[in-house]
Amino acid sequence: LNHCYCKKFTMGTSRLKSRSRTSIPSTIMQHKNDKQESILETEIVKRRNQACRSLLIQVHSSKSYNDLHNYCSRFGHILSMHHYYTNDQNFILVEFTNMMSINEVMSSASFMNRDIIPIKSSILWFRKGQIVTPQKDNQKKASLFVENGCVLPTKKETAKLLYNAKSISGQIIILYETMKLSDLEVRLRFHTAHYLEQYFSRLFENIKVLPFGSSINGFGRKRCDLDLVLVPEIEEVNIYVILVFHSKSTNNSDRHETKEFLGILANIMQHFIPGILNVRRILEARVPIIKFCYDYTRTECDLSATNMTAIYMTELLNLYGEMDWRIRPLVIVIRVWAKNQELTSDIPGHWITNFPLTLLVLFFLQQKKILPSLKILKLYSSRDDIRCAENGIDCTFLRNINKLPPDYKYKTNQDSLETLLYDFFEYYSTFDFQTYGICIREGMQIRKPSHSALHITNPLETTLNVCKNVSLHELNRIISKTHDAIYALETTNKLESNSWGIMTLLKINNGNAELKKSSTTKGQTEKIKEYPKDSYENSYKISDKFEVSE
Ligand code: GTP
Ligand code: MG
Repeated sequence: LNHCYCKKFTMGTSRLKSRSRTSIPSTIMQHKNDKQESILETEIVKRRNQACRSLLIQVHSSKSYNDLHNYCSRFGHILSMHHYYTNDQNFILVEFTNMMSINEVMSSASFMNRDIIPIKSSILWFRKGQIVTPQKDNQKKASLFVENGCVLPTKKETAKLLYNAKSISGQIIILYETMKLSDLEVRLRFHTAHYLEQYFSRLFENIKVLPFGSSINGFGRKRCDLDLVLVPEIEEVNIYVILVFHSKSTNNSDRHETKEFLGILANIMQHFIPGILNVRRILEARVPIIKFCYDYTRTECDLSATNMTAIYMTELLNLYGEMDWRIRPLVIVIRVWAKNQELTSDIPGHWITNFPLTLLVLFFLQQKKILPSLKILKLYSSRDDIRCAENGIDCTFLRNINKLPPDYKYKTNQDSLETLLYDFFEYYSTFDFQTYGICIREGMQIRKPSHSALHITNPLETTLNVCKNVSLHELNRIISKTHDAIYALETTNKLESNSWGIMTLLKINNGNAELKKSSTTKGQTEKIKEYPKDSYENSYKISDKFEVSE
């Protein structure tokens, strides 16, 4: 069953020569295999390759473009240049056609004298005031994409766009288009992964750093966190080779070793890798992670190690997102609604997070006969779809949706986004959470196998509840907010106010474009009383990031 993500992701990547070889915990190792790539796998290979051919260069301003272009084109043909501004600093991401150019630029760069620990990487500084003679040959200039792709549109801009939309469905599409990750943001996310990989590969042979989660599953929105996973690749043992490397033995699936390993990486990151700030070690969570801020893009990142399931989960979510054009806009509007209603938060706690919230939307769409169950996707999977994560978790499901029989392509439901949004709120405002759990795998509600307030079965590991941390109080808040949303959508009137349609849900007002104070509206409180008080007891367990077993 073992399938290798890593080998696929190796194509076209440059590797700095490793100086020493050290074995790493085998819990995080994957095996080679030659399966056909899925859509997401192909995209990852493409983006990784792009990252390997790119340099991130700090410049004085976007006006440095000409000088930088003249200078860099000495080393090879430049495909594109992308400028962005963050944290009072200007950067240009330069993409070369050929990977060799990167090595040449890097060999011509030098360290600053005051450097205590000189470290080479694909992030450089183009020093101000240097005279750069123009290129003699007539290389066509790459266009400079000046993007504010990393910057969230202001509330005022969003408010204006939403206010002027023709319908609620139109508003949802506008919101999606303004919120979704830009090409530059995706490039920078892969560049960040590549940057870390450059360092780690000096210590460990064949190590990959892959992005996952909303950065690549199509449900991400600007400024969302960057989830990264370390995936080493095991070389197949060649029986004809006589000399083999000495290495330290590791204990298979030893969680303790993974934690130790991440602890060491955290120290390295904190002390030696430029641009990594505020390193936090969350090693006791079910999936131990290192949290840090990546200063060059101002992105919050989570790095984990034993987490192939999360990558396959990303693939599953991406697949569902690909199945119908309405899915991603609907998920984004619900994610933004939940954030603005303070149902989700960047801080872990007793509340729902974006991942289970997305599962709620997908489950609702299964009930609407827009999406098939995971059971169906498993049923129609082929040999090419076989994937297996740590501890033998079977992550096999159909990757090529064109192979789904027409009966399960569900083309009959053509509800508008407005209808779907309304129905989503209505569906969950009356859902019997006390008795039933949500199950994407079955595509139908199941009897709750636990005492958790909210039960959403992990689609790939069905004994787990991804909402074990959610308290009854928080569940009740979700329910009451769905009632509020229904009320807001039913009573919305463009002619009478500065805020209509989804603007009310998102607390956006075209008048002053300020967040309105959270207000209690009709229909809000009734449900809270229906749950016995002692149900609170089991809910107050924080699972930090991922769920714990029942
Ligand atoms: P945002 O970062 O909030 O935009 O959404 P996200 O989908 O990236 O969620 P998050 O960063 O919390 O997690 C990243 C990925 O890890 C998710 O997309 C899932 O694939 C996986 N994941 C997150 N939470 C859980 C969980 O509770 N259980 C499991 N098994 N996987 C999870
Ligand atoms: Mg994330």
